[in-house]
Amino acid sequence: MKKTVWLNLDENKVDVTYLDKRFAESGYEFIKCPIDTGDEEKTIEMGKKADAVISTWEPWNERTLEAVKDKVQYIVRYGAGTDNIDIPAATRAGIPVGNVPGANSAAVAETAMLHILNVGRRFAHCVEGVRKGIWPSTITGTELDGKTVGLLGFGHIGKQLVRMMKGFDVKVLVYDAYIQDKDSEKWGVTFVENQDEIFKNSDIVSLHIPLTEETQGSINKEKFALMKKSAYLINTCRGGVINEEDLIEALKTGQIAGAGLDVLCQEPPKKDNPLLQMENVFVTSHMGAASLESEHRSQVIIADCIDEFFSGKMPYNVKNPEVKNS
Ligand SMILES: NC(=O)c1ccc[n+]([C@@H]2O[C@H](COP(=O)([O-])OP(=O)(O)OC[C@H]3O[C@@H](n4cnc5c(N)ncnc54)[C@H](O)[C@@H]3O)[C@@H](O)[C@H]2O)c1
Repeated sequence: MKKTVWLNLDENKVDVTYLDKRFAESGYEFIKCPIDTGDEEKTIEMGKKADAVISTWEPWNERTLEAVKDKVQYIVRYGAGTDNIDIPAATRAGIPVGNVPGANSAAVAETAMLHILNVGRRFAHCVEGVRKGIWPSTITGTELDGKTVGLLGFGHIGKQLVRMMKGFDVKVLVYDAYIQDKDSEKWGVTFVENQDEIFKNSDIVSLHIPLTEETQGSINKEKFALMKKSAYLINTCRGGVINEEDLIEALKTGQIAGAGLDVLCQEPPKKDNPLLQMENVFVTSHMGAASLESEHRSQVIIADCIDEFFSGKMPYNVKNPEVKNS
C-alpha cells in the first residue's frame, strides 16, 4: 500500500519542491498541512493519516502518540531539537524518532553571529532610523574584537560559531556538560569547569544547549547575577531554557546590558511581551535555520531517512533505536 507522509509546514513559506520530487519518485502520498502550535486534536487527526511524520512544532506527548500509534511508524523532526516530542513516550508507543543533526548548524551559527554583532553595534536600530529619515541614526556601540565570548553547549552549532569567530580577536570560553573531546588546542577555545565561569567571565554569552528537563528555565536570575553589567546574552537555541521573567528583570535593572534572541518562551509571543519593546533587546522570529542551504540539506537527510525506514532499516539518527525491541 502507498505510504503517506505528513509534513507540518506551509509550502508557501518553505520551499519543499525537493521533498515533492523525492516522495513522487518513492511513490509516497505527501500531505503538506501546517497546523497550529500546540493543537493536540489536529496533531492526532493528521497523525492518523500518516505512516511517517515530518515534525515541526506539533505536540507529541503520551496522549497524542498513544492515539496514533497504530498508524504512525516513524517521526523525523525537521531540525535538530526534539523538545516537542516526548521520546520515552514515543518508545512506549513503539515509534522511532529521528532528527536532522547538523544540517542547519551553519545557518543558526550565522544567526548567532548576526545577533552578537548587532547587539554590540545596534545595527538594526541604525537601519530602522534611516528608514524613518533620521541621519545619522547611529548609536556608539561596542566591538566584538577584544572580547570574551562564552558558549554554553558545544555541539554542531557551537562548533560552527567558533569557526566563524576565528577572524575576530576573541577569547572563547566553552562549557558543555556532556562532550568528551575537550582538546583546547584543537578547537581553539578554553574549556571551563562549570557554567558559572561562563556567566562570570564573558562579555557575550551565547546559548547552544537543547531544551530538556534539566535545562528548562536554568538560565535564571542566579546566572544573570553573575554576569558583567556590560555583558550581552544571545539565545538562538530554545526560549524555554531561559527564565524569561528573570531575564526581563535583569535587562530592566541594568544587571546585563542587552540581549539578542531568536527564540522566546512563547512563540509567537504575546503582543505585550516586554522583550519586544526594549531598546537593548533584539528579537528575531525563530529564523535561525531559515536558509536555502539549510532547508535543502535537511530535506535530503529527511527523504533519505524515510526511504531507509520504509525499506526496513533503522536510520542512523533515530534517538530511540531500542524501540525495535520494545
Ligand atoms: N533557532 C533555531 O532556528 C534553531 C535551529 C536549530 C537548532 N536550534 C536549537 O539549538 C540547539 C543546539 O543545536 P545543536 O545542533 O548544536 O545540537 P547538538 O546536540 O549538536 O549540541 C548540543 C550540545 O549541548 C550540550 N548540552 C546538553 N545539555 C547541556 C547542559 N545542561 N549544559 C551544557 N551543555 C549541554 C550537549 O552535550 C551538546 O554538545 C538545539 O537543541 C535546538 O534546540 C535552534
